Amino acid sequence: MQAIKRKAPNILITGTPGVGKSTLCTKLAEVTGLEWIEISKVAKDNNCLEEFDAVYNCPVLDEDKLLDGLEETMSHGGNIVDYHSSEFFPERWFDIVFVLRTDNTTLYDRLIARGYTGKKLEDNVDCEIFQTILEEAKNSYKHEIVHELNSTSPENMESNVQSICSWLQNWFSQNTQTAL
Ligand SMILES: Nc1ncnc2c1ncn2[C@@H]1O[C@H](COP(=O)(O)OP(=O)(O)O)[C@@H](O)[C@H]1O
Ligand SMILES: [Mg+2]
Repeated sequence: MQAIKRKAPNILITGTPGVGKSTLCTKLAEVTGLEWIEISKVAKDNNCLEEFDAVYNCPVLDEDKLLDGLEETMSHGGNIVDYHSSEFFPERWFDIVFVLRTDNTTLYDRLIARGYTGKKLEDNVDCEIFQTILEEAKNSYKHEIVHELNSTSPENMESNVQSICSWLQNWFSQNTQTAL
C-alpha cells in the first residue's frame, strides 16, 4: 500500500533488543527535529500493557489500543518510531524502515550489561542470529523500503545518522518539487 502524503516522512527503526535503536533515535531526533516515538514507553504511559508474560518476564502489548492512540500523530508525519517488532503497524504509516543489526557477541555483551539472563537472553541473541526482525520487516513492508544498518560501533552510528539525514533531505526535496 502506498504511503499517504504527509508534511514529513515517518521512519521506523527496528531490530532485536539491545541493537541500538534508542541510542540512534535519540541522536536522530536531536539532529532532525523529528519526533522520537519509543513504543515501549508510549505503551507504558498510555496503559497499553496487559497481563504479564511469565516466560519472557515482560508485559504483553495491547496492540489495538496502542495503534488507535498513535493514528493521528502518525498521519501528520515527522515521526521516528522505535520498536523491536514491525508487523502489527499499518504498512501505510512508514516511508522507510531501518533494521539495525549487530553481531551476536556484541549483542550478548550489551544484553548482559542490561541484566538479561536465561531464556530472555538466549532468545534475543537467537533472534539476531536468525535475522528474525529483518525477515519480519521484509514480510511486512515493500522490500525496497527496508534497509539493514550495522549498529556495532560509534562510527557505525555516525554513518547511520548521516545516511538517514541524506535520505530525509532527499525526501523533502522530492516532495517539495511534487507540491510545486
Ligand atoms: N552503534 C553503537 N556502538 C556502540 N554501542 C552502541 C551502539 N548503539 C547502541 N550501543 C549501546 O548498546 C546498548 C543498547 O543500546 P539501546 O539503544 O538501548 O538498544 P535498543 O534500544 O535497541 O534496545 C547501550 O548500552 C548503547 O550504549
Ligand atoms: Mg530501546
